[in-house]
Amino acid sequence: MMTEILSPSPAHLARAAALIRRGELVAMPTETVYGLAADAMNAEAVAKIFEAKARPSFDPLIVHAPASALDANGGPLVGLSRLGLVELEGIDRRVHRRIDALLKAFWPGALTVVLPRQIRVPDLVTSGLPTVAVRMPSHPIAQALLNASGCVLAAPSANRFGRISPTRAEHVKEELEGKLEMILDGGPCAVGIESTIVSFSNSGDVYLLRPGGVEIDALEANIGVPLEHLAPAHGEAPEAPGMLASHYAPRKPLIMLTGSLDTLDDEALRGALRGVGKVGLLRPTGSVRAARARLQALGASNPVVLSLSEDGDWNEAARNLFESLRRLDASDASTLFVEPAPESPALAFAIGDRLRRASA
Ligand code: TXA
Ligand code: MG
Repeated sequence: MMTEILSPSPAHLARAAALIRRGELVAMPTETVYGLAADAMNAEAVAKIFEAKARPSFDPLIVHAPASALDANGGPLVGLSRLGLVELEGIDRRVHRRIDALLKAFWPGALTVVLPRQIRVPDLVTSGLPTVAVRMPSHPIAQALLNASGCVLAAPSANRFGRISPTRAEHVKEELEGKLEMILDGGPCAVGIESTIVSFSNSGDVYLLRPGGVEIDALEANIGVPLEHLAPAHGEAPEAPGMLASHYAPRKPLIMLTGSLDTLDDEALRGALRGVGKVGLLRPTGSVRAARARLQALGASNPVVLSLSEDGDWNEAARNLFESLRRLDASDASTLFVEPAPESPALAFAIGDRLRRASA
């Protein structure tokens, strides 16, 4: 099968929608990363996602919902229930209101919520869990595909399992050539890292399962209490099963430095650089020139240095993250280093999470 990158013209969107309805895969842009989409209610179609990505079946998928669900009579949760996704029965009225308020504030956008699922959601989507993860993407092409197909779309990031998430149509082609017919091209993703995932306990506590594109502080301002970071005691909300330590991995060895260049002394740095061949360095923020000069002074010849945002703009850094990892992987550096990102603001924390997993 040839994999084509196509503009989102009405004709191409109609073709993509027909593929989805037939149970085939289509890669679509979202504001976070590109997703590999299939009809979430068709178990055979969903199985093709796992096969194309070589993804283990214990790692559940996020289902993407059309924006119309937000305006449903009775509120967003009722909208998700009408789509056949969410089971409202067991949700306490107060918790129901809290979730509706959260969805109204952050959808469409980079927030995924884990909710009790209806029985008709295929087990493969949820890895057999009693919950389903749902997101309403804001990207107009994702919404156009949802509307044209009339399906809810299961879509993980469109990369092979464990590899770097794609933020451009070309990245999807590199990852999945021959595994699907069509990649809808939406240009570079505006957010650049995956959605923030939260779950809820029966009493309405909100748990952070994955830091991501929506800032934790903004979520906390909406719910009025701090997010819980640890999975609650057993039987309540599950952890996010796909959060493996090693993920987002480049092909080359990637080593996280024990501190930023500014904090490491010459001796520590020289030790790290010894015998590693040509050096690549990814800086979360800070100057490329200064880092190159420092590395060269310590004997690294012609190091490849990339900075996610020289000005320290974390939104820009998130947009550049996965593309920069890919560029370093494709460069002639033989060992890659990365400086740790700070714990705050929340986007820096989310970037640091990806970098830790990429270097695990
Ligand atoms: O931004 C995003 O969320 C992107 C775009 C394409 O929407 N999607 C994405 O999907 O990042 P993926 O497959 O790379 O990550 C899905 C993760 C799983 O690994 C798991 O951690 C969590 O979502 N998840 C899914 N269903 C869950 C459930 N029922 N309970 C807990 N966590 C769940
Ligand atoms: Mg992924």
